[in-house]
Amino acid sequence: MKTFSLLCLMFFFPSTCNSKFTFPLKIYTGNFNSSVDVDFSSLEKNESSSTNELSLATDPSGKVNFLQMVNNLQGDSGRGYYIEMLLGTPSQTLNILVDTGSSNFAVAGAPDPYITHFFNSKLSSSYHSSGMDVSVRYTQGNWVGKLGTDIVTIPKGPNGTITINVATILQSENFFLPRVNWQGILGLAYKMLARPDSSVEPFFDSLVRQTGIPDMFSLQMCGAGMSASSTWDPLGGGLVMGGIEPTLYKGSIWYTPIKEEWYYQVEVLKLEVGGQNLNLDCQEYNTDKAIVDSGTTLLRLPQNVFNAVVDAIIRTSLIQQFSSGFWTGTTLACWTKGEMLWSIFPKISIYLRGMNASQSFRITIMPQLYIQLMADVDNTLECYRFGIASSTSGLVIGATVMEGFYVTFDRAQKKVGFAVSTCAEKSGSALSEIGGPFLASDVSSNCAKTPAIQEPVLWIISYALMGLCAFILIILVTLLLVPCRHGDDAGGGVTDESSLIHHRFK
Ligand SMILES: *[C@@H]1O[C@H](CO)[C@@H](O)[C@H](O)[C@H]1NC(C)=O
Ligand SMILES: *[C@@H]1O[C@H](CO)[C@@H](O)[C@H](O)[C@H]1NC(C)=O
Ligand SMILES: *[C@@H]1O[C@H](CO)[C@@H](O)[C@H](O)[C@H]1NC(C)=O
Ligand SMILES: *[C@@H]1O[C@H](CO)[C@@H](O)[C@H](O)[C@H]1NC(C)=O
Repeated sequence: MKTFSLLCLMFFFPSTCNSKFTFPLKIYTGNFNSSVDVDFSSLEKNESSSTNELSLATDPSGKVNFLQMVNNLQGDSGRGYYIEMLLGTPSQTLNILVDTGSSNFAVAGAPDPYITHFFNSKLSSSYHSSGMDVSVRYTQGNWVGKLGTDIVTIPKGPNGTITINVATILQSENFFLPRVNWQGILGLAYKMLARPDSSVEPFFDSLVRQTGIPDMFSLQMCGAGMSASSTWDPLGGGLVMGGIEPTLYKGSIWYTPIKEEWYYQVEVLKLEVGGQNLNLDCQEYNTDKAIVDSGTTLLRLPQNVFNAVVDAIIRTSLIQQFSSGFWTGTTLACWTKGEMLWSIFPKISIYLRGMNASQSFRITIMPQLYIQLMADVDNTLECYRFGIASSTSGLVIGATVMEGFYVTFDRAQKKVGFAVSTCAEKSGSALSEIGGPFLASDVSSNCAKTPAIQEPVLWIISYALMGLCAFILIILVTLLLVPCRHGDDAGGGVTDESSLIHHRFK
């Protein structure tokens, strides 16, 4: 990968390489038919407790009413979680996918077969086009559109109307999907990932700058255990902008540092399946990065790690008879209704670096989160898919894992926090656990060796190398064309050029 980018940079313009750069968004809407009646009662929030204990402890400015944001998301891991926004003057209502793995705010600007409506910028008096084109590629899908600015309000968000950069999507491929109920995407990652470049201020940066809310947000995603093929979108969770809402989690919040501010990149130290350490070199878990991404449906693992996890699950669960298609995601495994035994599957733990670098903590998901109900056949069979997939672009802590936790993105203090979510519970049993601290002395002090900002750094290195090559070539040519005469004049026999080269090589 690195070698490839380097070669690519040596021979082509950087824009060629740039187009290979994709964001991890990958949504599985499921292709399965269903007549299932899912029991949502266990996921309903305890209204009595959430009204009484509201605390604004983390909102010194007093500008935010978190309670209003507790239920502002709809959707599930299969179709993504979205929030309602009002865009333009007069306002047009749109549902916007919440994606912590990219940094552009973009809305449909033209009709598409899979969406019910789009943002018509011609009807908005506050819309200004910047005239610039923009395109974004995701792991799945891509779009091209026009950059502009307009005003937006979030009915269930911080008070006020803000001016933001917005891309109107004019053409797309595999981006809007069947049965999704959103018409745009809110990239909540850092400006370094903004397209066409980091001068396009991301939505959340604008929101913080213009409303004065604290520079943090948190996410509770509550679709765990629901069939991705149910036809309606339940109340899906909350995007709390500006702070932490104590009624959305139990126990304490455990923090891990953000290694680099582009994606929400974290450092994974260890993986356990059924309490057994996979025992891979910890750098394997972070090749080429490990990120927290609400826009990716599954837990995605680098190929080696994925293979080790599947082997370990097969060993612990003693279910050899599963077809390999189940593990690769092409077939579902079905049980007679009510016969599926969660206890045959192991729990999976991810150890993250603590704020104290010599410590770690672990987040654990139960099989109910990664063996996901997809379809109900004839009311007699229940069919499940494997919620973990392999990845060529690093480890992605996607919705499969995030649904177990209340996840805080504390940009001000450069840390991501995890706590057990109040909605990660089904039929009375917890779907997630969190524990620590553990000593991290058994793992390397840096498991994410490859510098996170490798692309830009590589570009700089490549340009430097290219420059140096050109420079040496010019000197060689000069030396060939002007043979040996300077030797006599300069005494030491060292020309200006060659001393420069000596200097450059030191
Ligand atoms: C689901 O089943 C219904 C009735 O059997 C059928 O009309 C419909 O086309 C099916 N949908 C899909 C996506 O297979
Ligand atoms: C809801 O909260 C009330 C008051 O805190 C508590 O008594 C009750 O047991 C809770 N119910 C559930 C289902 O958690
Ligand atoms: C917005 O302001 C109104 C009136 O001041 C207040 O009642 C409401 O709670 C505020 N909403 C938020 C999200 O802060
Ligand atoms: C960090 O953790 C180590 C190991 O538990 C402990 O000895 C040390 O005191 C901690 N450092 C701080 C600053 O808390």
